[in-house]
Amino acid sequence: MDGNGRWGVNKGLTRSHGHNKGVSVLKNIIKVSKKLGVKVLTVYAFSTENWTRPLEEVKFLLNLFEKVLEKEIDELNKELIRIKFIGDLSPFSEDLRKKFIEAENITHYNDQFTLNICTNYGGRQELVKVAKELSRKSISGEIKPDQINEEMFESHLLTCDFQDPDLLIRTSGEKRISNFLLWQLAYSEIYITDVLWPEFDENEFYKAIIDYQSRNRRFGGIKSVSNQSLKSSLSYR
Ligand code: FPP
Repeated sequence: MDGNGRWGVNKGLTRSHGHNKGVSVLKNIIKVSKKLGVKVLTVYAFSTENWTRPLEEVKFLLNLFEKVLEKEIDELNKELIRIKFIGDLSPFSEDLRKKFIEAENITHYNDQFTLNICTNYGGRQELVKVAKELSRKSISGEIKPDQINEEMFESHLLTCDFQDPDLLIRTSGEKRISNFLLWQLAYSEIYITDVLWPEFDENEFYKAIIDYQSRNRRFGGIKSVSNQSLKSSLSYR
């Protein structure tokens, strides 16, 4: 959801105005995602690097998370949206952590749509966490190092309940992954738009989806469609 700060400043307002506007854009994009039949939407709300921003902005963002959850949780639940926080929640205040966990618990059984909110999330940190867990299991004898494969590795990721994203949308024209879902994005299609997040509306979202629909996803192979049919016909023999 990149570009909130710049949008606020460009408008002669503050960065905080941009973050507030970013929340209403997120609400709209959730609505459109549901309408389009998207099942999982994962947003990067606070990175492990965002702590280095000026204290005032960090405080504003943490307060905003709390306020948004308080205000929106019943509506999100009514809309059968499951909320999941992806990241290390331990540095947040106990009050905020409680709000995160409460939001997850209240919406736990909603199965129409999942909103993953990456908070204090960093892709490298996630990979280090997995490495530590697998090392511990190896040392304790629970697993053998040679048993470690992609499937086992994936099952220790914070996103283990979800498929890898099909599409990554990066707003504000930045051409970086910025420590987001480093493992999971291996074969995701990437769409970059110059539009700042506060101006990312339904139309812009459609542009991204239409662009995605024109992609030929090969996952490292040659032709996705014909390979798929070859694989299924082989499996019948
Ligand atoms: C990136 O823009 C945006 C953020 C760091 C915060 C996004 C958070 C929200 C919109 C709140 C969502 C709330 C919940 C509960 C999910 P930026 O500040 O990096 O903008 P810039 O690139 O212009 O500086």
